[in-house]
Amino acid sequence: MEGTSFVYLLLLLVNISSLLLQCHGTSKDELKTYIVYTGKTMDDEVSSLARHQNMLQEVASSKQESKSILKHYKRSFSGFVADLTEEEANKMAVHEGVVSVFPNEKKQVLTTKSWDFIGFPINVERAQPESDIIIGVIDHGIWPESQSFNDIGLSSPPSRWKGPCQAFDFHCNNKIIGARYYKSKIDKDLSVSPRDTNGHGTHIASIAAGNPVSMASMLGFGQGTTRGGASSARIAVYKVCWSTGCEDMDILAAFDDAIADGVDIISFSLGGKITADTHFSDALSIGAFHAMKNGILTVCAAGNSGPNHASVMNVAPWAISVAASTLDRKFVTQVKLGNNKFFEGTSLNNFDLKGELYPLIYSRDAPNKEAGFDGDSSRNCPINSLDEKLVKGKIVLCEGNEGASEAFRVGAAGLLIQGIAYINVAYSFPLPACYLHTKDATKIRKYIHSKRTPTATIFKTNELRDTLAPEVPSFSGRGPNNVTLEILKPDLTAPGVDIIASWPPLSPISEFSGEKRTLEINIVSGTSMSCPHVSGAAGYVKSFHPTWSPAVIRSALMTTAKQMSPTYNQDAEFAYGAGQIDPVKAVNPGMVYDATEIDCISFLCGLGYSQSVLQLITEDVISCFDTVSARDLNYPSFVLKAPRPKHHLSGSFKRTVTNVGLPMSIYRAIVTVPKGLTVSVNPSVLSFTSLGEKKTYVLTIEGKLKKSINSASLVWDDGNFQVRSPIIIFDERAEKGESTKLYCINFIYIVIFNLLFYIIIE
Ligand SMILES: *[C@@H]1O[C@H](CO)[C@@H](O)[C@H](O)[C@H]1NC(C)=O
Repeated sequence: MEGTSFVYLLLLLVNISSLLLQCHGTSKDELKTYIVYTGKTMDDEVSSLARHQNMLQEVASSKQESKSILKHYKRSFSGFVADLTEEEANKMAVHEGVVSVFPNEKKQVLTTKSWDFIGFPINVERAQPESDIIIGVIDHGIWPESQSFNDIGLSSPPSRWKGPCQAFDFHCNNKIIGARYYKSKIDKDLSVSPRDTNGHGTHIASIAAGNPVSMASMLGFGQGTTRGGASSARIAVYKVCWSTGCEDMDILAAFDDAIADGVDIISFSLGGKITADTHFSDALSIGAFHAMKNGILTVCAAGNSGPNHASVMNVAPWAISVAASTLDRKFVTQVKLGNNKFFEGTSLNNFDLKGELYPLIYSRDAPNKEAGFDGDSSRNCPINSLDEKLVKGKIVLCEGNEGASEAFRVGAAGLLIQGIAYINVAYSFPLPACYLHTKDATKIRKYIHSKRTPTATIFKTNELRDTLAPEVPSFSGRGPNNVTLEILKPDLTAPGVDIIASWPPLSPISEFSGEKRTLEINIVSGTSMSCPHVSGAAGYVKSFHPTWSPAVIRSALMTTAKQMSPTYNQDAEFAYGAGQIDPVKAVNPGMVYDATEIDCISFLCGLGYSQSVLQLITEDVISCFDTVSARDLNYPSFVLKAPRPKHHLSGSFKRTVTNVGLPMSIYRAIVTVPKGLTVSVNPSVLSFTSLGEKKTYVLTIEGKLKKSINSASLVWDDGNFQVRSPIIIFDERAEKGESTKLYCINFIYIVIFNLLFYIIIE
């Protein structure tokens, strides 16, 4: 009894202190760094600074001490950064010259067989001016000495290029034509330079636009030629990420410069939680909007927070959001136990134990008691949790992903990791290791406890063919879109699993402590890797069609994408959007869906943005009279949410297509739709007599949903071109998330099982 009341007392104390902390957190005088976005560029540099300084003094609660502007955006859009109290930020937000005020947060960093796999061979036909294309990469910087970035055969940069090379420890060349860095807060990074000491930035830049590098491999894996999509395009580097993270205020500064410097495509493999529900309280969304106004396409990663619903990041309707998918190559590592049983898992293991059996131990049986650990706390092998005397020289089985550093520290001979059910990513570890399916790891644990001297060995990894590819791995961010439900995100998918590309020889190949191996090539996974595949592909398409708008390039990539299977990807379009990119087909899409700045503005009017705020961001004279519903933004995909499950639903969408195929052509609408629903298209035939001609149609969906997520499609076919749009119809069950569903199913099973059991006993 006494024990229980003690626990209650403890809980009470914890609650009180957390309340106190909360109060402290919302203290009125506490200063926080805020970004104040004030729309388009309006005046010259000096008066813009003065205007912003005045705004700042107007809201300052203490008129004595003057506040300072920490960063000033003025080249491509305008705004500033300042330390404000919450009260000051609220006052600022309603200032007539302000579009939005939001806190400066941090974003996280979220090959090359991959191009062959998607049907883009090394000898693909290229447009002559591909070297006119400039891809701006906003990330961790670059390792300029990598072979991917030498400038053999490249002429001097396009004359419109205006960006500088702010590097003191390397020279730019005709491949890397510009390099800038942004560093708001001083920390302990090695050098303040656009040089990449992490690896993420180099990997991405080489996937988007790296030169072909032959005979590349990582530890002998993935042998072949690595190359970028737009392999003769130029690269402009915008380093915003440091060992402390990537700050929004720096990301916005990079966009401000990249747009003015003259890039064609911006590649953005960073992301964070979507905390705000407006399009202009997010650095990526603001940056990409102004890029779009200037004819620049922003390509971003869908994030690695899948497979939960609504986990997709970077959902701006004026950018592309890219999901990840698998290649037809998988890395399989075998484990053999002393009883001659074999298990298969995943890793990138080139350590050779030569088939020799080592004693095997379960982490739970080897806690470091001196450091205060017991079996429950040593299961996951956090740092210091294992008893070195018990584990040294043995193969240890750990639960969860974090064991590699600890297994290495105590001198384990090898590591078996009990993973989750889905295994589709191969990691490298500083010791022989294999990542196993939960059910296999459970069998191995049983074996360990059934033998007095259990043993095992881990073999070198084999490369095998994955016949199920392309599939969307569990980590890839899923729809629906948290900001505007009516816009399908992710837009499409590209390879993002086990991608081989360049790496700085200074940075270890894995993040586990004890890892000392450094290489110029590394295999990494994430939507960070799928994003630059699309940046490269977009550069390739743009080199054939230099005048195409960002929305037209996006449309070309989406409507020609390879269809993926809703049977193997349970979240269907919420996982893969329009499907896997096909850059060669995207050069000739037949028809396209364009969406101009004015289309985006009337879409925003429809979302309820006031005319006066919108006037701050656009030069055009606008009236919010002819607003369009969010559903009618001219997007090449369709999303409809049923008002209630199992009720009749109905919704219409207006679209305008532009002919870019053959001057004289007749397209017919073909729809594919699940039972219970109808999709009608009016008119269902579109006849064109010239290039550039536009036609408008209305698509209507009606019926009742059986499943929570339903895939359908519309294809406009003229015999030459098939212009495919994905359609997804869903109800609120799809927003609740898979885990609750599984939980409910489990619960029902348990109830039924218990009932049966009861009946049998009776
Ligand atoms: C979308 O909203 C849900 C519910 O508020 C949240 O759990 C999820 O993390 C959000 N998604 C992103 C990408 O921020």
